[in-house]
Amino acid sequence: MVKGSWIRRMFEEGIAMKKKYGPENVYDLSLGNPIMEPPPEFKRELKRLANNPFPGMHGYMENAGYPQTRAAVAEQLTKETGIKMTEKDVIMAVGAAGAINVALKTILDPGDEVIVFLPWFVDYFNYVENHDGVVRVVETDEGFMPRLDKLEKAIGARTKALLIDSPNNPTGVVYSAELMTQMGDILRKKEAEYGTEIFIVSDEPYKKIIYDGLKYPSPLNFHRHSIIATSHSKDLSVPGERIGYVALHPEAKYHDEMMTGFTFCTRVLGFINAPAFMQNVVRSLQGVTIPVSEYQRHRDFIYDNLVRFGYTVNKPQGAFYIFPKCPIEDDVAFIHELQQEHHVLTVPGVAFGTPGYFRLVYCVDDRTLELAMPGLEALARKYGLK
Ligand SMILES: Cc1ncc(COP(=O)(O)O)c(C=O)c1O
Repeated sequence: MVKGSWIRRMFEEGIAMKKKYGPENVYDLSLGNPIMEPPPEFKRELKRLANNPFPGMHGYMENAGYPQTRAAVAEQLTKETGIKMTEKDVIMAVGAAGAINVALKTILDPGDEVIVFLPWFVDYFNYVENHDGVVRVVETDEGFMPRLDKLEKAIGARTKALLIDSPNNPTGVVYSAELMTQMGDILRKKEAEYGTEIFIVSDEPYKKIIYDGLKYPSPLNFHRHSIIATSHSKDLSVPGERIGYVALHPEAKYHDEMMTGFTFCTRVLGFINAPAFMQNVVRSLQGVTIPVSEYQRHRDFIYDNLVRFGYTVNKPQGAFYIFPKCPIEDDVAFIHELQQEHHVLTVPGVAFGTPGYFRLVYCVDDRTLELAMPGLEALARKYGLK
Protein backbone atom coordinates (compact mmCIF):
# COMPACT_ATOMS: atom_id res chain seq x y z
CA MET A 1 0.00 0.00 0.00
CA VAL A 2 2.76 2.40 0.97
CA LYS A 3 4.82 1.63 -2.14
CA GLY A 4 1.96 2.00 -4.55
CA SER A 5 0.09 4.93 -3.13
CA TRP A 6 1.70 7.97 -4.75
CA ILE A 7 -0.87 8.69 -7.40
CA ARG A 8 -3.73 7.96 -4.99
CA ARG A 9 -2.13 10.23 -2.39
CA MET A 10 -1.86 13.03 -4.94
CA PHE A 11 -5.46 12.37 -5.89
CA GLU A 12 -6.64 12.68 -2.27
CA GLU A 13 -4.52 15.75 -1.58
CA GLY A 14 -5.95 17.24 -4.77
CA ILE A 15 -9.52 16.67 -3.56
CA ALA A 16 -8.69 18.36 -0.23
CA MET A 17 -7.07 21.31 -2.04
CA LYS A 18 -10.01 21.68 -4.43
CA LYS A 19 -12.35 21.83 -1.41
CA LYS A 20 -10.19 24.42 0.32
CA TYR A 21 -9.38 26.71 -2.62
CA GLY A 22 -12.20 25.92 -5.07
CA PRO A 23 -11.70 23.50 -7.99
CA GLU A 24 -11.12 26.38 -10.41
CA ASN A 25 -8.02 27.38 -8.43
CA VAL A 26 -6.29 23.98 -8.46
CA TYR A 27 -4.55 22.78 -11.65
CA ASP A 28 -4.57 19.02 -11.65
CA LEU A 29 -1.98 17.49 -13.98
CA SER A 30 -1.68 14.30 -11.94
CA LEU A 31 -4.25 11.83 -13.27
CA GLY A 32 -4.35 10.21 -16.71
CA ASN A 33 -8.12 10.54 -16.94
CA PRO A 34 -8.76 11.92 -20.44
CA ILE A 35 -10.84 15.08 -20.57
CA MET A 36 -11.90 14.37 -24.14
CA GLU A 37 -15.41 13.00 -24.66
CA PRO A 38 -15.77 9.77 -26.67
CA PRO A 39 -16.08 10.33 -30.45
CA PRO A 40 -19.57 10.90 -31.95
CA GLU A 41 -19.49 7.41 -33.52
CA PHE A 42 -19.35 5.92 -30.00
CA LYS A 43 -22.42 7.86 -28.86
CA ARG A 44 -24.29 6.98 -32.07
CA GLU A 45 -23.57 3.30 -31.52
CA LEU A 46 -24.66 3.53 -27.85
CA LYS A 47 -28.01 5.00 -28.91
CA ARG A 48 -28.48 2.61 -31.80
CA LEU A 49 -28.03 -0.40 -29.51
CA ALA A 50 -30.14 1.01 -26.71
CA ASN A 51 -32.95 1.68 -29.19
CA ASN A 52 -32.67 -1.73 -30.86
CA PRO A 53 -32.32 -4.22 -28.02
CA PHE A 54 -32.07 -7.89 -28.91
CA PRO A 55 -32.83 -10.91 -26.75
CA GLY A 56 -29.94 -12.02 -24.54
CA MET A 57 -28.09 -8.73 -25.04
CA HIS A 58 -27.39 -8.44 -21.31
CA GLY A 59 -26.74 -12.12 -20.67
CA TYR A 60 -23.60 -14.21 -20.31
CA MET A 61 -21.70 -15.18 -23.40
CA GLU A 62 -18.66 -17.42 -23.82
CA ASN A 63 -15.88 -16.30 -21.45
CA ALA A 64 -13.71 -15.22 -24.40
CA GLY A 65 -16.35 -12.70 -25.52
CA TYR A 66 -18.63 -12.40 -28.56
CA PRO A 67 -17.02 -14.08 -31.60
CA GLN A 68 -18.17 -11.19 -33.85
CA THR A 69 -16.42 -8.60 -31.67
CA ARG A 70 -13.27 -10.71 -31.48
CA ALA A 71 -13.38 -11.06 -35.28
CA ALA A 72 -13.68 -7.26 -35.63
CA VAL A 73 -10.65 -6.73 -33.37
CA ALA A 74 -8.72 -9.38 -35.34
CA GLU A 75 -9.61 -7.70 -38.64
CA GLN A 76 -8.32 -4.35 -37.36
CA LEU A 77 -5.07 -5.96 -36.14
CA THR A 78 -4.68 -7.61 -39.56
CA LYS A 79 -5.09 -4.20 -41.21
CA GLU A 80 -2.48 -2.68 -38.90
CA THR A 81 0.11 -5.46 -39.05
CA GLY A 82 -0.50 -7.38 -42.28
CA ILE A 83 -0.61 -10.58 -40.19
CA LYS A 84 -3.72 -12.65 -40.86
CA MET A 85 -5.60 -12.83 -37.56
CA THR A 86 -9.04 -14.22 -36.71
CA GLU A 87 -11.33 -14.40 -33.69
CA LYS A 88 -9.33 -17.47 -32.64
CA ASP A 89 -6.45 -15.11 -31.76
CA VAL A 90 -8.44 -12.66 -29.62
CA ILE A 91 -10.37 -12.66 -26.34
CA MET A 92 -12.16 -9.61 -24.93
CA ALA A 93 -10.93 -8.26 -21.57
CA VAL A 94 -11.84 -5.88 -18.77
CA GLY A 95 -9.59 -2.98 -19.80
CA ALA A 96 -5.84 -3.18 -20.31
CA ALA A 97 -5.37 -3.89 -16.59
CA GLY A 98 -7.66 -6.93 -16.86
CA ALA A 99 -5.95 -7.99 -20.08
CA ILE A 100 -2.45 -7.84 -18.55
CA ASN A 101 -3.57 -9.84 -15.51
CA VAL A 102 -5.18 -12.49 -17.71
CA ALA A 103 -2.03 -12.73 -19.83
CA LEU A 104 0.30 -12.95 -16.82
CA LYS A 105 -1.83 -15.49 -14.96
CA THR A 106 -1.84 -17.66 -18.07
CA ILE A 107 1.90 -17.66 -18.70
CA LEU A 108 3.51 -17.38 -15.25
CA ASP A 109 4.55 -20.18 -12.95
CA PRO A 110 5.52 -19.09 -9.42
CA GLY A 111 9.00 -17.57 -9.49
CA ASP A 112 8.97 -16.82 -13.22
CA GLU A 113 10.50 -13.48 -14.10
CA VAL A 114 8.98 -10.56 -15.94
CA ILE A 115 11.23 -7.80 -17.22
CA VAL A 116 10.03 -4.20 -17.14
CA PHE A 117 11.88 -1.08 -18.21
CA LEU A 118 12.45 2.02 -16.12
CA PRO A 119 10.44 4.15 -15.57
CA TRP A 120 7.70 1.60 -15.02
CA PHE A 121 3.92 1.94 -15.00
CA VAL A 122 2.94 2.05 -11.33
CA ASP A 123 0.87 -1.13 -11.19
CA TYR A 124 3.22 -3.50 -13.07
CA PHE A 125 4.75 -4.78 -9.84
CA ASN A 126 1.30 -5.47 -8.43
CA TYR A 127 0.15 -7.27 -11.56
CA VAL A 128 3.24 -9.49 -11.72
CA GLU A 129 3.10 -10.26 -7.99
CA ASN A 130 -0.63 -11.09 -8.28
CA HIS A 131 0.51 -14.21 -10.14
CA ASP A 132 3.59 -15.01 -8.04
CA GLY A 133 5.95 -13.64 -10.64
CA VAL A 134 9.12 -11.67 -9.96
CA VAL A 135 9.86 -8.32 -11.58
CA ARG A 136 13.32 -7.63 -13.01
CA VAL A 137 13.91 -3.99 -13.78
CA VAL A 138 16.06 -2.98 -16.75
CA GLU A 139 17.44 0.51 -17.29
CA THR A 140 16.75 2.84 -20.17
CA ASP A 141 19.07 5.47 -21.69
CA GLU A 142 18.81 9.24 -21.14
CA GLY A 143 16.07 9.37 -23.81
CA PHE A 144 14.18 6.59 -21.91
CA MET A 145 14.79 4.04 -24.68
CA PRO A 146 15.47 0.49 -23.43
CA ARG A 147 19.13 -0.39 -22.96
CA LEU A 148 19.32 -3.55 -25.03
CA ASP A 149 22.72 -4.53 -23.67
CA LYS A 150 21.18 -4.53 -20.17
CA LEU A 151 18.14 -6.39 -21.44
CA GLU A 152 20.29 -9.17 -22.85
CA LYS A 153 22.11 -9.52 -19.52
CA ALA A 154 18.87 -9.56 -17.50
CA ILE A 155 17.32 -12.47 -19.40
CA GLY A 156 17.76 -15.86 -17.72
CA ALA A 157 16.23 -19.32 -17.70
CA ARG A 158 13.25 -18.09 -15.64
CA THR A 159 12.44 -15.10 -17.86
CA LYS A 160 8.91 -15.60 -19.12
CA ALA A 161 8.00 -12.16 -20.39
CA LEU A 162 9.01 -8.66 -21.23
CA LEU A 163 6.20 -6.27 -20.29
CA ILE A 164 6.43 -3.17 -22.49
CA ASP A 165 4.45 0.03 -22.68
CA SER A 166 4.89 2.02 -25.92
CA PRO A 167 3.75 4.79 -26.38
CA ASN A 168 4.98 5.09 -22.85
CA ASN A 169 3.39 6.28 -19.65
CA PRO A 170 5.09 8.36 -18.14
CA THR A 171 7.71 9.40 -20.76
CA GLY A 172 5.77 9.52 -24.05
CA VAL A 173 8.48 7.64 -25.97
CA VAL A 174 7.50 5.30 -28.81
CA TYR A 175 9.74 2.31 -29.49
CA SER A 176 11.02 2.45 -33.08
CA ALA A 177 10.86 -0.39 -35.59
CA GLU A 178 14.65 -0.61 -35.40
CA LEU A 179 14.55 -1.04 -31.62
CA MET A 180 11.78 -3.63 -31.89
CA THR A 181 13.82 -5.55 -34.49
CA GLN A 182 16.80 -5.68 -32.14
CA MET A 183 14.59 -6.59 -29.19
CA GLY A 184 13.04 -9.46 -31.16
CA ASP A 185 16.51 -10.71 -32.16
CA ILE A 186 17.66 -10.74 -28.53
CA LEU A 187 14.54 -12.59 -27.34
CA ARG A 188 14.91 -15.27 -30.01
CA LYS A 189 18.60 -15.69 -29.27
CA LYS A 190 17.79 -16.19 -25.59
CA GLU A 191 14.86 -18.51 -26.36
CA ALA A 192 17.28 -20.69 -28.33
CA GLU A 193 19.90 -20.53 -25.56
CA TYR A 194 17.48 -21.56 -22.78
CA GLY A 195 15.00 -23.64 -24.78
CA THR A 196 12.13 -21.44 -23.56
CA GLU A 197 9.50 -19.08 -24.92
CA ILE A 198 9.92 -15.45 -23.92
CA PHE A 199 6.82 -13.37 -24.55
CA ILE A 200 6.51 -9.70 -25.27
CA VAL A 201 3.41 -8.62 -23.36
CA SER A 202 2.50 -5.35 -25.03
CA ASP A 203 0.49 -2.93 -22.91
CA GLU A 204 -0.52 -0.49 -25.65
CA PRO A 205 -3.61 1.56 -24.76
CA TYR A 206 -1.93 4.63 -26.32
CA LYS A 207 -0.94 3.02 -29.62
CA LYS A 208 -3.26 5.28 -31.62
CA ILE A 209 -2.28 8.41 -29.67
CA ILE A 210 0.89 9.08 -31.56
CA TYR A 211 2.19 12.33 -33.05
CA ASP A 212 3.94 13.90 -36.02
CA GLY A 213 2.72 11.20 -38.42
CA LEU A 214 4.77 8.50 -36.65
CA LYS A 215 3.67 4.91 -37.34
CA TYR A 216 3.25 2.49 -34.43
CA PRO A 217 5.52 -0.57 -34.79
CA SER A 218 3.46 -3.48 -33.43
CA PRO A 219 5.41 -6.17 -31.54
CA LEU A 220 3.40 -8.71 -33.58
CA ASN A 221 5.61 -7.80 -36.55
CA PHE A 222 8.85 -8.41 -34.64
CA HIS A 223 8.33 -11.48 -32.44
CA ARG A 224 5.93 -14.38 -32.82
CA HIS A 225 5.72 -14.80 -29.06
CA SER A 226 3.85 -11.52 -28.70
CA ILE A 227 0.74 -10.99 -26.63
CA ILE A 228 -1.18 -7.73 -27.03
CA ALA A 229 -2.88 -6.79 -23.74
CA THR A 230 -4.68 -3.53 -24.29
CA SER A 231 -7.90 -1.50 -24.18
CA HIS A 232 -9.99 1.20 -25.80
CA SER A 233 -9.74 3.29 -22.62
CA LYS A 234 -7.69 6.01 -24.24
CA ASP A 235 -8.29 5.75 -28.00
CA LEU A 236 -12.08 5.98 -27.52
CA SER A 237 -11.75 7.94 -24.26
CA VAL A 238 -13.84 5.46 -22.25
CA PRO A 239 -11.60 4.28 -19.36
CA GLY A 240 -14.55 3.82 -17.00
CA GLU A 241 -16.26 1.40 -19.38
CA ARG A 242 -13.53 -1.24 -18.92
CA ILE A 243 -13.28 -2.67 -22.42
CA GLY A 244 -10.12 -4.18 -23.86
CA TYR A 245 -8.71 -7.37 -25.32
CA VAL A 246 -5.88 -9.90 -25.32
CA ALA A 247 -4.53 -10.94 -28.73
CA LEU A 248 -1.93 -13.60 -29.46
CA HIS A 249 0.29 -13.95 -32.52
CA PRO A 250 -1.28 -16.74 -34.64
CA GLU A 251 2.09 -18.48 -34.94
CA ALA A 252 2.93 -18.53 -31.23
CA LYS A 253 3.96 -21.92 -29.89
CA TYR A 254 1.13 -23.60 -27.91
CA HIS A 255 -1.24 -21.04 -29.46
CA ASP A 256 -4.45 -22.98 -28.85
CA GLU A 257 -3.53 -23.93 -25.27
CA MET A 258 -2.67 -20.32 -24.54
CA MET A 259 -5.98 -19.04 -25.92
CA THR A 260 -7.77 -21.62 -23.78
CA GLY A 261 -5.65 -20.38 -20.85
CA PHE A 262 -6.65 -16.75 -21.47
CA THR A 263 -10.31 -17.76 -21.59
CA PHE A 264 -10.04 -19.87 -18.43
CA CYS A 265 -8.14 -17.12 -16.57
CA THR A 266 -10.77 -14.54 -17.56
CA ARG A 267 -13.22 -16.75 -15.71
CA VAL A 268 -11.20 -17.68 -12.64
CA LEU A 269 -9.85 -14.18 -12.04
CA GLY A 270 -13.51 -13.33 -11.55
CA PHE A 271 -14.08 -11.27 -14.69
CA ILE A 272 -16.27 -14.00 -16.32
CA ASN A 273 -16.39 -11.89 -19.47
CA ALA A 274 -15.72 -8.32 -20.63
CA PRO A 275 -18.78 -6.01 -20.34
CA ALA A 276 -21.40 -7.26 -22.81
CA PHE A 277 -22.83 -3.89 -23.84
CA MET A 278 -19.38 -2.44 -24.53
CA GLN A 279 -18.40 -5.47 -26.58
CA ASN A 280 -21.38 -4.71 -28.79
CA VAL A 281 -20.53 -1.02 -28.96
CA VAL A 282 -16.84 -1.28 -29.88
CA ARG A 283 -17.39 -3.94 -32.55
CA SER A 284 -18.01 -1.36 -35.27
CA LEU A 285 -15.57 1.22 -33.86
CA GLN A 286 -12.27 -0.56 -34.41
CA GLY A 287 -11.06 2.09 -36.87
CA VAL A 288 -12.33 5.05 -34.81
CA THR A 289 -10.11 7.22 -32.58
CA ILE A 290 -10.57 10.49 -30.68
CA PRO A 291 -9.00 13.51 -32.48
CA VAL A 292 -5.32 13.00 -31.75
CA SER A 293 -4.51 16.48 -33.10
CA GLU A 294 -6.05 17.94 -29.92
CA TYR A 295 -3.57 16.03 -27.75
CA GLN A 296 -0.76 16.99 -30.11
CA ARG A 297 -1.71 20.66 -29.66
CA HIS A 298 -1.48 20.18 -25.87
CA ARG A 299 1.80 18.29 -26.23
CA ASP A 300 3.27 21.18 -28.24
CA PHE A 301 2.00 23.78 -25.77
CA ILE A 302 3.37 22.11 -22.64
CA TYR A 303 6.65 21.01 -24.25
CA ASP A 304 7.37 24.46 -25.72
CA ASN A 305 6.62 26.13 -22.40
CA LEU A 306 8.72 23.74 -20.32
CA VAL A 307 11.67 24.24 -22.69
CA ARG A 308 11.17 28.02 -22.56
CA PHE A 309 11.21 27.87 -18.73
CA GLY A 310 14.52 26.01 -18.89
CA TYR A 311 13.44 22.45 -17.97
CA THR A 312 15.34 19.51 -19.45
CA VAL A 313 12.68 17.38 -21.11
CA ASN A 314 12.19 14.93 -23.99
CA LYS A 315 9.49 15.72 -26.53
CA PRO A 316 6.80 13.04 -26.16
CA GLN A 317 6.06 11.10 -29.36
CA GLY A 318 2.80 9.63 -28.07
CA ALA A 319 0.42 9.09 -25.11
CA PHE A 320 -0.45 12.22 -23.06
CA TYR A 321 2.27 12.48 -20.42
CA ILE A 322 5.49 14.48 -20.22
CA PHE A 323 8.36 13.64 -17.88
CA PRO A 324 10.76 16.55 -17.23
CA LYS A 325 13.85 16.46 -15.09
CA CYS A 326 13.33 18.04 -11.69
CA PRO A 327 15.31 21.23 -11.11
CA ILE A 328 16.25 19.94 -7.65
CA GLU A 329 17.33 16.47 -6.59
CA ASP A 330 14.36 15.79 -4.31
CA ASP A 331 11.41 15.27 -6.66
CA VAL A 332 8.98 14.76 -3.76
CA ALA A 333 9.91 18.11 -2.18
CA PHE A 334 9.60 19.73 -5.61
CA ILE A 335 6.12 18.45 -6.39
CA HIS A 336 4.98 19.41 -2.88
CA GLU A 337 6.22 22.93 -3.38
CA LEU A 338 4.48 23.06 -6.77
CA GLN A 339 1.32 21.87 -5.08
CA GLN A 340 1.38 23.98 -1.93
CA GLU A 341 2.68 27.23 -3.39
CA HIS A 342 1.22 27.13 -6.90
CA HIS A 343 -1.70 24.65 -6.72
CA VAL A 344 -0.28 22.54 -9.54
CA LEU A 345 -0.70 18.79 -8.97
CA THR A 346 1.84 16.40 -10.52
CA VAL A 347 3.39 13.01 -9.65
CA PRO A 348 7.01 12.54 -8.50
CA GLY A 349 9.36 10.39 -10.56
CA VAL A 350 9.91 8.09 -7.57
CA ALA A 351 6.38 6.71 -8.22
CA PHE A 352 7.76 5.28 -11.50
CA GLY A 353 11.09 4.12 -10.09
CA THR A 354 12.99 7.19 -11.37
CA PRO A 355 13.49 9.85 -8.69
CA GLY A 356 14.70 13.20 -9.99
CA TYR A 357 11.87 13.55 -12.54
CA PHE A 358 8.20 14.43 -12.35
CA ARG A 359 5.19 13.56 -14.50
CA LEU A 360 2.63 15.96 -15.88
CA VAL A 361 -0.45 14.91 -17.84
CA TYR A 362 -1.78 17.05 -20.66
CA CYS A 363 -5.10 15.28 -21.30
CA VAL A 364 -6.74 18.20 -19.48
CA ASP A 365 -8.70 21.26 -20.65
CA ASP A 366 -6.90 24.29 -22.12
CA ARG A 367 -7.59 26.47 -19.09
CA THR A 368 -6.08 24.02 -16.58
CA LEU A 369 -3.01 23.60 -18.76
CA GLU A 370 -2.54 27.35 -19.26
CA LEU A 371 -3.03 28.20 -15.59
CA ALA A 372 -0.53 25.54 -14.50
CA MET A 373 2.26 27.25 -16.44
CA PRO A 374 3.01 30.23 -14.13
CA GLY A 375 3.73 27.88 -11.19
CA LEU A 376 6.10 25.80 -13.30
CA GLU A 377 7.79 28.96 -14.54
CA ALA A 378 8.11 30.41 -11.02
CA LEU A 379 9.85 27.28 -9.70
CA ALA A 380 12.11 27.11 -12.75
CA ARG A 381 13.18 30.66 -11.99
CA LYS A 382 13.54 30.01 -8.25
CA TYR A 383 15.84 27.04 -8.90
CA GLY A 384 17.93 28.87 -11.46
CA LEU A 385 16.89 27.11 -14.68
CA LYS A 386 17.05 30.40 -16.54
C1 LIG B 1 0.51 2.18 -19.31
C2 LIG B 1 -0.85 1.86 -18.86
N1 LIG B 1 -1.24 0.58 -18.80
C3 LIG B 1 -2.46 0.23 -18.38
C4 LIG B 1 -3.38 1.19 -17.99
C5 LIG B 1 -4.73 0.75 -17.55
O1 LIG B 1 -5.61 0.82 -18.63
P1 LIG B 1 -7.12 0.38 -18.48
O2 LIG B 1 -7.85 1.52 -17.83
O3 LIG B 1 -7.60 0.13 -19.86
O4 LIG B 1 -7.15 -0.83 -17.63
C6 LIG B 1 -3.04 2.55 -18.03
C7 LIG B 1 -3.98 3.57 -17.58
O5 LIG B 1 -3.68 4.72 -17.39
C8 LIG B 1 -1.74 2.89 -18.47
O6 LIG B 1 -1.33 4.16 -18.51
